[in-house]
Amino acid sequence: MTQTLAHSAITQTLADDQAGVARAAALLRAGALVAFGTETVYGLGADATNARAVAEVFAAKRRPHFNPLICHYPDADAAFAQVEATDTARRLAAAFWPGPLSLVLPRRPDCPVALLAGAGLQTLAVRVPAHATALALLRAVGRPVAAPSANRSGQISPTTARHVLDGLAGRIAAVLDSGPCLVGVESTVLDLCGDRPSLLRPGGATVEAIEALIGPVGRGSPHAEAEAARTRHAVAEDQLTLRSPGLQVSHYAPDAPVRLNADAVRSDEALLAFGAPLQGAGAVFQLSAACDLTEAAANLFVGLRHLDAEAARLGLIGIAVMPVPEHGLGLAINDRLHRAAAPRI
Ligand code: TXA
Ligand code: MG
Repeated sequence: MTQTLAHSAITQTLADDQAGVARAAALLRAGALVAFGTETVYGLGADATNARAVAEVFAAKRRPHFNPLICHYPDADAAFAQVEATDTARRLAAAFWPGPLSLVLPRRPDCPVALLAGAGLQTLAVRVPAHATALALLRAVGRPVAAPSANRSGQISPTTARHVLDGLAGRIAAVLDSGPCLVGVESTVLDLCGDRPSLLRPGGATVEAIEALIGPVGRGSPHAEAEAARTRHAVAEDQLTLRSPGLQVSHYAPDAPVRLNADAVRSDEALLAFGAPLQGAGAVFQLSAACDLTEAAANLFVGLRHLDAEAARLGLIGIAVMPVPEHGLGLAINDRLHRAAAPRI
């Protein structure tokens, strides 16, 4: 069902009315991908609690890395039920939401958002868009909606339904056409997890307005500047992936050493399997028995965490990983596996 919906050859264009919103919500709840307008850019929405649907987002965009995605909520209460809100976060939300500001905060322990949506991080970017149709959709879905910009990786963010179809027709179930986006650049991304707030991406909410409310904001990231240039010149998005903390080389390293491309496994190792599992491992997690890369992507971060815990519990020496083909979502999976196996810094 999910597969069929997400890969339907024909992408429906849904009208900005009650029936269109209801249909878009039903598709999202069924695990399909639906693009929808926000005040910033069109987002490629997926049920953020459905890891498989989230994996389909990366596949549809042909994104070579699992960048963390922003989760969208109908109001601040819904967002702060899933992340730990600080005082600063509440003040910013009161002033800027609904609006083009995304806040990076720690996930709550019971946060239902799939780890893949946050690219395996313990933090999550949340936002409440200032767009009546988007808010109606989010209320109707009743679950967080993960949504990167609705374009293919390497292309410019879409601000009309036509742009969305130019890049993604046939790869997503539907686009909810709510007309042109008013802001046209993505939301400002502000990290509230460190000692002081730090700007990860300049965007629709100005730093001046943010600083007027909460005082100085760190802008030390070397990538923030590149990102600013990117926004100014409207060059292709997704090329500057290093801005995200999720993409620092050793970020995902589990405690247990990771050994890639294993063609045999020992009894004192855990095995991350892809396809028919190698025999003899001390613990096994199956990414996809059917060698389905979308399923494997959806399971990746859960599997690494599970085996890391199993290795500690059982006294295993490390995690052996079976080869994953280097095409489609396999590129992103291997990118993440290489980071997990990289020397620790
Ligand atoms: O305006 C927008 O924000 C649009 C609309 C659709 O809402 N969405 C959007 O999403 O631009 P996306 O996926 O293209 O950009 C998300 C960016 C990531 O590249 C990353 O820099 C940052 O937000 N981000 C998301 N989660 C993060 C996290 N947990 N920690 C740090 N940065 C994060
Ligand atoms: Mg984007």
